Amino acid sequence: MDSTIGFLSLLAYALYFMLPAYMANVSALAFGGGVPVDFGKNYRDGRRLLGDGVTWRGTIIGIIMGTIVAALQGLVFMYYGDIFTLIPEWTTIAGIIPTTWGEWIVLGLALSGGALAGDAVGSFIKRRIKLERGRPAPFLDQLDFVVGALVLASLVVTIPLSIVLLILIFTAILHLAANTIAYFLGLKNVWY
Ligand code: CTP
Ligand code: MG
Repeated sequence: MDSTIGFLSLLAYALYFMLPAYMANVSALAFGGGVPVDFGKNYRDGRRLLGDGVTWRGTIIGIIMGTIVAALQGLVFMYYGDIFTLIPEWTTIAGIIPTTWGEWIVLGLALSGGALAGDAVGSFIKRRIKLERGRPAPFLDQLDFVVGALVLASLVVTIPLSIVLLILIFTAILHLAANTIAYFLGLKNVWY
């Protein structure tokens, strides 16, 4: 029972930490479109550098929205402190999140910028292996943005390995669940 509570609090902390990255990803999807980041240019293999799924509008709005979430989380921290220390099991990994508002904003920029950079790297790889825009690439599609977010965020804060693993596993499940729902709602024509 205790270990279940410990696991759930760890998961809650991990998801709260990643919220700016998820927000950046969802905002790019919701508000993206228009001019592609690669301006339609091809790579030397004759295929698109990134493709039409990586746009300036999605990238910019994604970074702004993700950073706003982190700024709000920073305000919560300034007023209430680390809300997760309310859960006793949690004290073991408390301390990885920032303690000043400025640091929260820098972390937000790292998480959301990293998420969208990771997504763009994923698109670059997909084009190199001849996958057209929007075609599924299992694991890569689910994890490119998380890896990008974690890499940039780790320049700002120290992220314990337990949190990294939990985020990787849980995001893959979340992404698959979201895609399954989108498929059954008819929003996507491929399930993965
Ligand atoms: N999007 C965007 N700008 C970004 C990232 C995403 O505008 N930087 C939008 C695009 O409309 C894109 C959608 O979010 O189509 C979904 O993103 P993603 O699944 O990464 O792109 P795909 O269209 O699947 O293309 P790819 O094959 O390159 O992954
Ligand atoms: Mg994709």
